[in-house]
Amino acid sequence: MIIAIDGPAGSGKSTIAREVARRFCFDKLDTGAMYRAVALSALDRGVDLDDEPAVDDLANTISIRFPPREGSTTRIEVDDVDVSDAIRTPRIDSCVSKVAAYPGVRTAMLTPQRAFAEGRDVVAEGRDIGTVVFPAADIKIFLTADPAERARRRVLQRHEDDDLTLDDLADEVQRTLDAIRRRDELDSSRDVAPLTAAPDAVEIDSTAHTIDEVVTMIADLIQERRGA
Ligand code: CDP
Repeated sequence: MIIAIDGPAGSGKSTIAREVARRFCFDKLDTGAMYRAVALSALDRGVDLDDEPAVDDLANTISIRFPPREGSTTRIEVDDVDVSDAIRTPRIDSCVSKVAAYPGVRTAMLTPQRAFAEGRDVVAEGRDIGTVVFPAADIKIFLTADPAERARRRVLQRHEDDDLTLDDLADEVQRTLDAIRRRDELDSSRDVAPLTAAPDAVEIDSTAHTIDEVVTMIADLIQERRGA
């Protein structure tokens, strides 16, 4: 069974995909991490992000792997180097959408994404899972949330262990909101595989729902589908 979860930045896809995967013993595929890994590799190797053919080449050359999980965090390696933390920085946030818009990069990611799901039950999350990667997915979810709420969640997630003042947090929420809006705009307006709900996707607005409530909605859909 394949569950596709698409949606904009900070809508809760990762947390919800992780929890659904845990409940049903499915494997989780974080496709955003793959685009982040391409952006990071380009920066690390001095490849100019505006040089589309060079970025395409790089995407076709690097080897991206998801080693077994440690606890609840997904690990990701590029050419056997763990980049799980390095891909989640504001620097990568601000440039990942540029490389993800290159058709050559997207084609390079498609084969490993589909190979990952061969012969197993998978919860895959991203922007184009229900539309392009797995158009025949058994269940498609389009997860949204109010942009201000998405920025707030992202900042709280980033500073889980920090002791920041409310003023510092408010400033960062505003900066994050601007960054999220820019990324949503780039992801939704690109020519290839833009962020959009598949016609047969179930849209869930998570603004006013807890993670548990959203997970339960998806779990109910899975049970229904299994019983069908
Ligand atoms: O976690 P967050 O929602 O902030 O982003 P992500 O899922 O890690 O994705 C990072 C970026 O990768 C997105 O902003 C898109 O530009 C790109 N992406 C994509 O183009 N297609 C996907 N299937 C997944 C991510």
